[in-house]
Amino acid sequence: MKTLFYSALMSACLLPVMAAPAVGKARAVDPVPAKALPAKGDPALGREKADSERCVECHGVDGNGAGHSNGPEGKFAKLAGQHPAYLLKQIRDFRSGARAHDQMQIMARSVSDEDVRDIAAYFANQSGMKGQDGERHALGKSLFESGDSARGIAACIGCHGALGKGVAGSTLTPVIGGQEWRYLDKQLRDWRSGERRNSPDGAMSQITKTLSDADIEALANYLSGI
Ligand code: HEC
Ligand code: HEC
Repeated sequence: MKTLFYSALMSACLLPVMAAPAVGKARAVDPVPAKALPAKGDPALGREKADSERCVECHGVDGNGAGHSNGPEGKFAKLAGQHPAYLLKQIRDFRSGARAHDQMQIMARSVSDEDVRDIAAYFANQSGMKGQDGERHALGKSLFESGDSARGIAACIGCHGALGKGVAGSTLTPVIGGQEWRYLDKQLRDWRSGERRNSPDGAMSQITKTLSDADIEALANYLSGI
């Protein structure tokens, strides 16, 4: 009797618990299983989707944030020539909340991974980020190329490649040479404060820890001018 009672009780308790993950899965944001997605997105479809999903309104038709870079809203990231795999990771991070940003979280939750693959393929195909001919800051260049071992700052070039243009095959490390300066400045401050912490192994959080405001301004200045 006792055993029967307990087993009935156990199953009554366990059932809802066991059922819960299935319900959670059914509600997941991305209904397309990752394996079913094509390896590469379709840039032509991506162009249409970037328009219908309104990405171009903030990021520009050519992915260079056209029309916004000089205003107070210049913190929009340029997406032109960026690695598609990096872009998809960021969208997933915005969606899950691993990377915080109110506007982009709403946008990321409104598109499927399949759409993002196409959109990313389209932006990646646009001619690379163009720098804004700012003054090229000597301190920024030196930190970028050599780091500062006394302060534990690794040279950025080691991961981001010559002139910040990325390294072929390193598809999760973004192109940063020619990126919008307000955006670069904000990201470096966000890494340092812990507001952004979605870098694999915490690399970027570690590297920015000892950067001063002047270092960040110099780096943003140098990189955005490339
Ligand atoms: C209302 C303006 C707005 C719209 C619309 C918008 N974005 Fe963004 N996006 C931003 C801003 C602002 C940021 C920078 C977020 C931050 O500071 O971390 C950003 C960042 C991003 C990033 C990260 C880039 C990087 O270098 O890490 C990606 C990827 C991105 N957006 C893709 C998209 C896609 C795809 C769409 C369309 C589905 C879209 N965005 C629509 C404003 C917008
Ligand atoms: C150990 C490798 C490594 C080093 C060294 C490194 N980075 Fe990064 N960086 C990354 C990775 C990986 C990411 C992408 C993190 C993510 O997934 O969000 C990143 C992201 C960034 C971003 C965000 C770009 C965007 O589009 O949002 C900026 C800005 C940046 N790094 C600047 C720097 C600077 C400046 C230095 C040198 C002071 C530096 N990085 C050194 C690996 C590195």
